[in-house]
Amino acid sequence: MKALAARRHHRHAPVVLLLLALLATGALYAVLAPTSADAADSAASANDIEAGDKLFQANCATCHGPTGEGTGSAPSLIGVGAASVDFQVGTGRMPMAISGPQAEAKPVQFNAEQTAQLAAYVASLGAGPGIPVADQVDPSKGDVANGMALFRTNCAMCHNAVGAGGALSEGKYAPSLLETTNTHIYEAMATGPQSMPVFSDANLTSEEKRDVIAYIDAQREPSPGGINLGSLGPVSEGLWVWVVGIGLLIGATVWIGAKSS
Ligand code: HEC
Ligand code: HEC
Repeated sequence: MKALAARRHHRHAPVVLLLLALLATGALYAVLAPTSADAADSAASANDIEAGDKLFQANCATCHGPTGEGTGSAPSLIGVGAASVDFQVGTGRMPMAISGPQAEAKPVQFNAEQTAQLAAYVASLGAGPGIPVADQVDPSKGDVANGMALFRTNCAMCHNAVGAGGALSEGKYAPSLLETTNTHIYEAMATGPQSMPVFSDANLTSEEKRDVIAYIDAQREPSPGGINLGSLGPVSEGLWVWVVGIGLLIGATVWIGAKSS
């Protein structure tokens, strides 16, 4: 201890202290850093990345460039993360077939293993959002009421109040969310495909995303009130009353009039 105290004023002491502080910060960060992306990345072995590289060269490189750097016809994939690939490939949007206003979901072309390999390869190009773990997308752990409030403020203007989907401008549309898997819902929020905004953890925390998933999941149950009329609310209900209700009234009036004469 005495020796240490004596060296306190050594001219290299500040440098040594600075190095120690940097080391400590690094170690702390490694322990405390967000876990989901890390978990997904560490699960991806070098073999997966290699296999993903091969699949990528054969199926994606023509548009996205041999190292995913992007070309004139497709964006760079550096830093989009495993979540984006799992979403795009897992819903059949990628590889894109024809260019239109929007890359649409279509039959999936790669199995789960190949999708994971592609995701591992793209994640190795640059850090990005990882694939969520089962716990993060479990609707039974989410708060449906809070999810509804979040959904109404963040998603309903495009996807309709119950996630039934809706049209946007320029031939684009926000798809129905009722058939989408919970993992893909999470990934869509984390990566913001095409004209959808990104909901990073700063906008919606991981727990809030799970609440939103719980709300969407609750909409998959049959409507308790019978026919839901597209869940458009007062518009379709008013139309129903006018057309069917008043139609029946007119019919009844005509019928009564015909009887008495
Ligand atoms: C025919 C060209 C084409 C092919 C082939 C293709 N892509 Fe794409 N990809 C695109 C275009 C264009 C976009 C941008 C879509 C948009 O945002 O409108 C895109 C977007 C993406 C995104 C979203 C990027 C982001 O910002 O989140 C990912 C991930 C992706 N592609 C992965 C792949 C993978 C993996 C393959 C191979 C299995 C593939 N793509 C094959 C054209 C292509
Ligand atoms: C500005 C409009 C807009 C908002 C706001 C928006 N989205 Fe989207 N969303 C879209 C569009 C457009 C697509 C289709 C993108 C594509 O096909 O790549 C989409 C796609 C999706 C998909 C993929 C569905 C599938 O299986 O095809 C999910 C899930 C999704 N959105 C969830 C959400 C959630 C949850 C929110 C709120 C936190 C939200 N979106 C907010 C426009 C929006």
